[in-house]
Amino acid sequence: MFKKKPLAVALSSVLVLALALVGCGTKTASTSEEKEVKPIIIKFSHVVTPDTPKGKAALKFKELAEQKTNGRVKVEVYPSSQLYGDKEELEACQSGNVQIIAPSVTKLVGLNPKFQYTDLPFLFPNNEAVYKFFASDAMKGLMNSLDKYNLQGLAVWPNGFKQFTNNKRPLITPDDFKGLKFRTQAGKVLEAQFKALGAGSATIPFGETYAALQQGTVDGQENTFNNIDTQKYQEIQKYLTVSNHGRIDYMIIVNKSFWSGLEPDIRKALDESMAEATKFAVEQADILDQKSKENLKNGGKLQFTELTPDQLAAFQKAMQPVYDEFESVISKELIDAAIKAGQN
Ligand code: LMR
Repeated sequence: MFKKKPLAVALSSVLVLALALVGCGTKTASTSEEKEVKPIIIKFSHVVTPDTPKGKAALKFKELAEQKTNGRVKVEVYPSSQLYGDKEELEACQSGNVQIIAPSVTKLVGLNPKFQYTDLPFLFPNNEAVYKFFASDAMKGLMNSLDKYNLQGLAVWPNGFKQFTNNKRPLITPDDFKGLKFRTQAGKVLEAQFKALGAGSATIPFGETYAALQQGTVDGQENTFNNIDTQKYQEIQKYLTVSNHGRIDYMIIVNKSFWSGLEPDIRKALDESMAEATKFAVEQADILDQKSKENLKNGGKLQFTELTPDQLAAFQKAMQPVYDEFESVISKELIDAAIKAGQN
């Protein structure tokens, strides 16, 4: 008994020491492991709902980025102006409070007024022309113009062609616009477009547009079928005119210092993810827009007007002054590149 006790004590001491060492070892290992696996967080903020082309492609990017980096990157997607609205998102990206944003290109007018090419009435005849223009040197030049703002354009994602809605009357001829007031996204080109039709306009952030239409701050707005449908404007608007007069497309923008500071293998995986998400956005855009068109048409809430070629020609003529006024701002080269994209 006398002899056994010190042995037991010695053994238990050894055990305690061993456990302590094992404990220490585990702690050290898990601490360094924790450090190693702490993911890079990318916040991706946008203003539309998750069931839009942009919303879906943002989620696709998240899925691919997390998969291709084996979880070393975690993408947090914030839709519906949850984190930042139109007014704040650019500054938030520049200052690094958010790493990726995807504004409609016309909202970049404050950085480069040439982005308003997208608002020139009837510039593109169809989606194919738009996609060709996305791949052009002219678009590369626009993307590069963001560099000096600590921003980098990564990709362009489509949404679709804009249609007019309002709650006063069917819009069949340019004269029908007289005296109405429309919400615009940004910039002087859209203001001039409505002025050419005898209408007024006000720039209102996307997240505040439903309330502005509901309260009668404005009578109408212009947007894609899918944005109209997912924002439920049919609840507060009575008439829709299918005009396809302008575009809503997005520049996917990252904070440049953040992006260039990433390790090369991570950046490569993210670039690949962005390329795949862009393909997905292109696939989804028209499908979702056509689906929304059918929803709106068959929903029984909006009166639809499909313009005849002659009626469309009257709008083209009425809006021509916008080109004369803004050719020097947007530049002839850029306009010619867009026209060329629609020619073959
Ligand atoms: C708008 O403000 O109407 C659009 O740019 C919203 C969007 O992101 O599609």
